[in-house]
Amino acid sequence: DTQDQLKEFQQRIDNGEKIEPKDWMPERYRKQLTRIMSQHAHSEIVGMLPEGNWITRAPSLKRKLVLLAKVQDEAGHGLYLYSGTETLGVKRQELIEDYLYGNAKYSSIFNYPTLTYADICVIGWLVDGAAIVNQTMLAKSSYGPYSRANIRICKEESFHKKQGYEMLAKMADGTAEQKKMAQDAVNRWWWATLMMFGPHDTDSPNSAELIKWGVKTKTNDELRQHFVDRMVMEAEAIGIELPDPDLTYNEETGHWEFGDIPWDEFWSVVKGDGPMNRERIKARRKAYEEGEWVREAAKEYARKKRLQDEK
Ligand code: ACO
Repeated sequence: DTQDQLKEFQQRIDNGEKIEPKDWMPERYRKQLTRIMSQHAHSEIVGMLPEGNWITRAPSLKRKLVLLAKVQDEAGHGLYLYSGTETLGVKRQELIEDYLYGNAKYSSIFNYPTLTYADICVIGWLVDGAAIVNQTMLAKSSYGPYSRANIRICKEESFHKKQGYEMLAKMADGTAEQKKMAQDAVNRWWWATLMMFGPHDTDSPNSAELIKWGVKTKTNDELRQHFVDRMVMEAEAIGIELPDPDLTYNEETGHWEFGDIPWDEFWSVVKGDGPMNRERIKARRKAYEEGEWVREAAKEYARKKRLQDEK
């Protein structure tokens, strides 16, 4: 019965086995994975907007090519993750409509504007850097399709992070004006990036269950700390300052302690009141609605092909 199935399921997770789409799983596990994977997919797709905004204005052909490739990668991640989510028995169209016209969430970070080209450098370094920390953990997730998706995604994210860090290092080493632009972008993105990891563990209702089921293998605070420790080192190496007067190295723990995260801002962005929430949703709805004829044509093509094959 269900109790035995639950026990066996937990045992498989504790043994480090992967759960595959056709395996038995508790409905709540399916629900949690659908939530997390679809939020992740929506984030990848909406994440194309702040950077896509700069493709035509990238300062050289090389930078344009790199940015174009990166934005295309994000589209690929989104589509891959939607396919992964569909293995849980949900329809992509429903997920997308819940996001565009309902309440589905996506990462808070994509609701901030990209004001200068330095923001593109900083997104690569900080935002993709944070995504790697989070997704390297998710690559060990207990759900097979999600784990494999994240392995693949992380390989591309590493390139995204490197291109951002390399550009920022160059800018920070440039003229006084360039250096100021780089520092200004870091000042504006730092706290928002720390919020990507989600609320403190004490305020994270989903963490305990996700960790028990091996969906997450580390908590929000553990990952955030790991990220801060790395970034302090990387910022110093390129002469950039992190905008937190409370950053202090703790000899005993071996970690960098940091100041208070502005949680009011975080929750207001999550609830839809961030600087760019409305513009982002508007742009995504427009793309979805204007793409209707493409989806119709693809469906019709598939229908005709099926009829032909049946002949
Ligand atoms: N932005 C928007 N919503 C967030 C964020 C965030 N940065 N962090 C937490 N939340 C939401 C959660 O989705 C949850 O809401 P819900 O229960 O209504 O869905 C609520 O705040 C409480 O948070 P937690 O209980 O801590 O949620 P969870 O345990 O799922 O952890 C996390 C949140 C870390 C974002 C997790 O869902 C995750 O790892 N998701 C997959 C990765 C992902 O989506 N990355 C997107 C950005 S990376 C990129 O490059 C696209």
